[in-house]
Amino acid sequence: MKRFLVAVDGSEASVKAVRAVLSLAEPLGAGVTLLYVVPPAVGGVGAAWAPLDEIHASEVKHGQKVLAEVLAAVGQSALSIETRAVVGPPVETIASTAADEDYELVAVGSTGKGAVKRLLLGSTADRLVQLSQKPVLVVR
Ligand SMILES: Nc1ncnc2c1ncn2[C@@H]1O[C@H](COP(=O)(O)OP(=O)(O)OP(=O)(O)O)[C@@H](O)[C@H]1O
Ligand SMILES: [Mg+2]
Repeated sequence: MKRFLVAVDGSEASVKAVRAVLSLAEPLGAGVTLLYVVPPAVGGVGAAWAPLDEIHASEVKHGQKVLAEVLAAVGQSALSIETRAVVGPPVETIASTAADEDYELVAVGSTGKGAVKRLLLGSTADRLVQLSQKPVLVVR
């Protein structure tokens, strides 16, 4: 069975990427996985008062909530959609998931939650295109 990976950060652009992939996947009866990546917290702020794994656990929980909201936003699908929230460097984690688990392609929005809206392409999408061994679909 063909499988498609969509990296989701909760932004409207990433919801659009999910919709685009669903329209490709549905006629194929393909599998779809939504992946939310929590960047590992670095030392300094927070680390002093909360253990890193607690910070990560609460961020993963937030990610699961974001994934549920994205699922609700795209509505009913004939496909069963898997969701996953993990901790790691986002670009590397998205690329290695696509490659190691042999997805057909990985999709992202062209922009995301980042503040700098003037960018044509967000840094996650930009670096993923450069790094990924698997085909990348950037959805505008
Ligand atoms: N942490 C993440 N986990 C999963 N997918 C992500 C994550 N961050 C970004 N993406 C994916 O990459 C797409 C583009 O986001 P990107 O981060 O490149 O843009 P941005 O947030 O506007 O810019 P920047 O992060 O450089 O400020 C998103 O629509 C989403 O599909
Ligand atoms: Mg971003």
